[in-house]
Amino acid sequence: MSVSFMLNGEPVTIEGEPPTRTLLDWLRARGLTGTKEGCNEGDCGACTVMVSDENGSRALNACILFLPQLQGKSLRTVEGLASPDGALHPVQEAMITHHGSQCGFCTPGFIMSMAAAHSSGATNHDDYLAGNLCRCTGYAPIIRAAEEAAAQPVPPWLADEPALGETAAGEPPATSAPPDAAAPAPSSLDAFADWYLAHPEAVLIAGATDVGLWVTKQLRELGEVAFLNTIPELRQISETAGALRIGAMATLSDLQPIIAQHYPSFGELIRRYASVQVRNAATIGGNIANGSPI
Ligand code: FES
Ligand code: FES
Repeated sequence: MSVSFMLNGEPVTIEGEPPTRTLLDWLRARGLTGTKEGCNEGDCGACTVMVSDENGSRALNACILFLPQLQGKSLRTVEGLASPDGALHPVQEAMITHHGSQCGFCTPGFIMSMAAAHSSGATNHDDYLAGNLCRCTGYAPIIRAAEEAAAQPVPPWLADEPALGETAAGEPPATSAPPDAAAPAPSSLDAFADWYLAHPEAVLIAGATDVGLWVTKQLRELGEVAFLNTIPELRQISETAGALRIGAMATLSDLQPIIAQHYPSFGELIRRYASVQVRNAATIGGNIANGSPI
């Protein structure tokens, strides 16, 4: 397996890891232990990281994110949020000012959820922090910190970070994984269809909010897998007369604002479904295909 992405502003290429290695395990083995393991199943937000691509920045749970899902993206962990010369991000400053941390175990996850929301201009603090659990500080100081940080601009070291997949040498961005017999990441629907015809027993991985638990909780070996995150056609949502056409890889976050225009109560249901981190990864196709109660 070969995966390339930006890690805290620097390009990295990972070779030789199993395709179902989680980002959380990989980060912590690399010494980036600011990203915490709480539940290891997408419920607590202690492992939250910020992932950016052409669709903007979003918070994701590293514990149920497999490395190939990062191909071509920019990743920020809590270690990479302050500027290289040590200036803190506005959400870090505000958390100190408002005493938003006690034991601190949850704090990196809160900080990264707040930073991702700050980058996208989100001010619905209660909503975007609903996937982060804190057992000892209480939420009021954290919300006060989020409110204060929202008035500050995105710091220049984040606004100016290298473009998606762009290396320091200015090489063109990598937008899809190289061919890999162990874990193909097809770049088109046709290429995927040809491959799947020859490998009908493979496990297809969309957002991994369910399949991730097969690995982290059931300790299953998945065998042959394919990642669908590199197929743009599957992410599209289009409206035609009287119909919505929803790609199987469209996430709940992609769908929510569109469905809310037509079915407000369905939109409200999705707003309360799981957490921002899960809705940013979980797909409509994956939900239907697995029929999972989670
Ligand atoms: Fe709890 Fe990842 S460790 S959501
Ligand atoms: Fe202890 Fe949040 S500060 S769990």
